[in-house]
Amino acid sequence: MSSTHSIEVVATPGDLFRAAAEEFIRAARTAIGAQGRFAVALSGGSTPKNLYSLLAAGYTDFAWNRVFFFFGDERHVPPTHAESNYRMVNEALFSKVAVPPGNVFRVPAENPDADAVAAAYEAQLRKFFEIKAGEFPRFDLILLGMGPDGHTASLFPESAALAEQTRLVVANWVAKFNTHRITFTFPVLNHAAEVIFLVSGAEKASIVHQVLEGRNTPSLPAQQVQPTNGKLLWMLDEPAASQLTR
Ligand code: 6PG
Repeated sequence: MSSTHSIEVVATPGDLFRAAAEEFIRAARTAIGAQGRFAVALSGGSTPKNLYSLLAAGYTDFAWNRVFFFFGDERHVPPTHAESNYRMVNEALFSKVAVPPGNVFRVPAENPDADAVAAAYEAQLRKFFEIKAGEFPRFDLILLGMGPDGHTASLFPESAALAEQTRLVVANWVAKFNTHRITFTFPVLNHAAEVIFLVSGAEKASIVHQVLEGRNTPSLPAQQVQPTNGKLLWMLDEPAASQLTR
């Protein structure tokens, strides 16, 4: 078991999304070469949209039929809703390249019962990865973002999901948004072969410094992402890295 932790800083947001697209494709080629498929979990929010658009524009001929897409978290809304992470990725990527519909594992968030949504998505993960109770899936890559409060996926500070150690997916009540979010749990994130944090912009500089250089008690959710046998890569643009002591 070995894990690596590295930080890559590039000058501009454009450089960041190009570098992230190259890393995505490099990881995909490696996994497809080794096992014939690439299982990736995508992040939502605003930051990765440019990455998804770049993948669609720059890699049209890629072996998308060997790529299996999941979502690290989702808002509790239907797939047509403006807040839907699925909708964002579908518009930026899935609708633009030859991804077979069966390769996209959307969170069934239209179901008003958030716990049922989480249980259904967990069942999909267990079926796809052919894992039993007590076992965890090993994604080839999990993409994550980070909020100004240090949350990642939908693992928010002081929320119940932070303590979850057996389930793969939970419905996490987020008081400040007065809603549930459907999210992977830390064991899933920390069983991945590779985790990439993609963080852009000066408004994130303070939290980036706190997470990468700060001593927080309790530790911030993003600090608890430490793959036990995998690669952790922070990809930052200069504005996001501007408060790091390098
Ligand atoms: C979501 C995300 C979330 C996101 C951060 C950062 O569904 O919102 O998965 O964890 O990565 O909130 O969001 P921005 O990229 O919009 O700053």
